[in-house]
Amino acid sequence: MIPSASRAAAVRLNRSQLSVPGIRPELFEKAAQSAADVIFLDLEDSVAFADKEKARENVITGLRDLDWRGKTVSVRVNGLDTPFMYRDVIDVMEQAGERIDLMLIPKVNRAADVQAVDMLLTQIEMAKGYARPVGLELMIETAEGLMNVDAIAGASARAESLHFGPGDFAASTGARNVTIGGGNPDYAVLVGAKGGPRETHVGDMWHYALARIVVAARAHGLRPLDGPYADFADAEGFDAAARRAAALGCEGKWCIHPSQIAAANAAFGPTAAETEAARRILAAMDQAARAGKGAATLDGRMIDVASIRQAQVVVRKAELIAGGAK
Ligand code: COA
Ligand code: MG
Repeated sequence: MIPSASRAAAVRLNRSQLSVPGIRPELFEKAAQSAADVIFLDLEDSVAFADKEKARENVITGLRDLDWRGKTVSVRVNGLDTPFMYRDVIDVMEQAGERIDLMLIPKVNRAADVQAVDMLLTQIEMAKGYARPVGLELMIETAEGLMNVDAIAGASARAESLHFGPGDFAASTGARNVTIGGGNPDYAVLVGAKGGPRETHVGDMWHYALARIVVAARAHGLRPLDGPYADFADAEGFDAAARRAAALGCEGKWCIHPSQIAAANAAFGPTAAETEAARRILAAMDQAARAGKGAATLDGRMIDVASIRQAQVVVRKAELIAGGAK
């Protein structure tokens, strides 16, 4: 059978993705020294219109002057529907293009948006003679973007990840939500007959969007990422949101505050017990294969060739973490 995904996901840890406003350069060094896997310096929605140019200058200076070794570094540019984006891309790429690994594109609506950015990046990279192409992180945060998510995921060989943006997605779809990335207790069904005992079952109002993004990303060999949880004083809420995203297949989650990084790394990284269990599955399946069997029993449960694939993902990630890889 010919595999349908054209490429494997880029090998990069992306458990935690720290957002740092470009207008607050005093935070850059703290970010560089944090335990976040990916750091993005933001030129978009954490920067007021009047500060756009200043933030761009700060980001270029910060990329050039600070030590970002050991980190995957990204810049979030403004959206294609703004007057800021072309200069964000040109100035950041021309002046600090060799210092970034990724560029984060907000409010991607269609494949042509990705192709337009790709074309501009390609020209700048050729003109400057950069050896290493910059990867793309694509934000799905509008109704149109989610509708076109499959085409967006397959639009460019630079694409590495799809990111869910719950705040803008709520604005775009009219979803009722107070805390960015949080839930809404009204998203619930009442179970039980009228007049009898009843229970309210609250659901995850972002399930459809997130699951859709996970499937599109994985089908194209990209990393799916869950977006921010704005109530950074609510550690329990962040942890629950991160764990449910990990359960669904997300590779990691955004952190808007350093206090969220450890929880994201824990939720998306395998525990020592999970890594050990995965290694036992691989050993048991190795033994089964030598005995000519495709399925076996381990701890009373059936394991088969699909278990090998799941276990390999876990072991590979554990090795990346142990090796301190980017
Ligand atoms: N990156 C790096 N360091 C950060 C940080 C970030 N995003 N947010 C806070 N810090 C630092 C602070 O400078 C402070 O450091 P110190 O202890 O050495 O003084 C420490 O972490 C604690 O910060 P705190 O005082 O609790 O936060 P704050 O009031 O300075 O800022 C926010 C709170 C929410 C405004 C800030 O965290 C922030 O701007 N987050 C990112 C917002 C963003 O990027 N939004 C767009 C994407 S959704
Ligand atoms: Mg947004």
